[in-house]
Amino acid sequence: MKMEGMGRLFADTFNRPAERVFFAPGRINLIGEHTDYNGGHVFPLAITFGTYALAAKREDNKLRFYSANFSERGVVEGSLDALGYREEDGWTNYPKGMTKLMQEAGYSINTGYDVLFYGNIPNGAGLSSSASIEMATGVMLEGLFDLDIDRIEMVKIGQRVENYYIGVNSGIMDQFAIGMGKAGAAIWLDCETLDFEYAPIELPDASIVIMNTNKRRELASSKYNERRSECEEALSRLQKQIDVKSLGELTTDQFEEYRAAIGDAVLEKRARHAVYENARTIEALNKLKRGDVEAVGLLMNESHRSLEQDYEVTGKELDTLVHTAWNQPGVIGARMTGAGFGGCAIAIVLNEHIDSFISEVGNRYKEECGIEAAFYMAAIGGGARELVREEIK
Ligand code: GLA
Repeated sequence: MKMEGMGRLFADTFNRPAERVFFAPGRINLIGEHTDYNGGHVFPLAITFGTYALAAKREDNKLRFYSANFSERGVVEGSLDALGYREEDGWTNYPKGMTKLMQEAGYSINTGYDVLFYGNIPNGAGLSSSASIEMATGVMLEGLFDLDIDRIEMVKIGQRVENYYIGVNSGIMDQFAIGMGKAGAAIWLDCETLDFEYAPIELPDASIVIMNTNKRRELASSKYNERRSECEEALSRLQKQIDVKSLGELTTDQFEEYRAAIGDAVLEKRARHAVYENARTIEALNKLKRGDVEAVGLLMNESHRSLEQDYEVTGKELDTLVHTAWNQPGVIGARMTGAGFGGCAIAIVLNEHIDSFISEVGNRYKEECGIEAAFYMAAIGGGARELVREEIK
C-alpha cells in the first residue's frame, strides 16, 4: 500500500489526520546463527521491507491501535493505565509492551496515542516482524513524546519486551539489527560486549536473494528454548574444566581440547555449532574486508551444514531450498537465516543467473515439498527512524 492510502486509512479509522510517520525494517542475518545468546558474534543487516507506523498523540490516556495487516480485528483500544500483557490483545501486545517497558525505564509517556501499523515483511517468515513492530513503536514513542533515548538502550528495551513481556527467550540480534541498521552495510556485533562495526556489503555483480519456505514455524519457540538450555548445560559442564563465561569465548582449539568434559553426544554437537559458528562469523568479517565474497559464501554454506547436522534447526523445507540453491550456477553461498524450523533462507547469486535460479529452485522446492516458495530481492536499508518528507511516497 502507498503511503497516501495509509494516510487516508488513518483519517478514516481515527477521524483525524496522522501527525508523523515512523518506520522500522526487518532483518536477515548473513552468518552467526544461534550465537547471540551464546555470547558470540552475529552479522545481520536491515532490509528495506518493514513496519510503518502512522501516529498522532491524544489528550487523554487512551491507546487506539489499528493494523492494516490484521484489519479484521478493527481498532483495538487500550489505556495507559492498563498496560499488562493479555493474550486476547493479540498483536497489540507488542506496542503495549514497548510502551510499558519504556515507561518503566523512566521515559515520560504521559498521554495516549492513535497508531496505524502497516507492514510489508511477510509475517512469521523469520525476518523479525515482531522486533520490527517493537522498534517501530520505540521510535514512535521517542518522536511523539520528544524523548532523549540512547538507541542501544531502546534496543535493549525491545529485547526485554520479547523476553519478559511476550515471553520469547530470544537474544539481542534482531532488535539490534533493526535499531542500528545502516543502508549498504551489515552489522558485525559482539553480543557479549555489544561492540559493533558496520561492514559495507559491496556486491557489484551479485545480489542477496531471500527464499521463503512459506512453512509455518511450528514449535519454533519451544525448540528455540530447548536449544538455549542445551547450550547452557554444555557450558556448565565445560566450566568444570575451563574458566569461560560463555561458549562464545571459546576458540575452536579450546573446544577440541575440552569437549570431552561435556560427556553427551547431543550436547557436544550443540556446543560445537555455537563455537564453530562464532569462529566462522569472525572469519567472515575478515574475508569481507578483503573483498573475498567467495570465501564468505563458503562460510555461509558451512554454517548451514552445521545448523542442519549439529544444531538440528533446519528441517526438510529449508534444507531443500538451500541444497538446491547450492547446485545452481552463479551461487556464491546459501544458508538458512534466523531461528530456523521453517522461515527463510538466503543466497548470494550472480545477477545474470537470478531469473533461472528463482525458477529452478522454486520448481524443485514445489516438487519436493509441495509448497510454493516465495523469493524477494534484499536491499540493505537503514534502521528504525522517523520518515522525512522525501521518504514518504
Ligand atoms: C531468532 C532470535 C535471535 C537469534 C536467532 C538465531 O531470530 O530472535 O535472537 O537467536 O533466532 O540466530
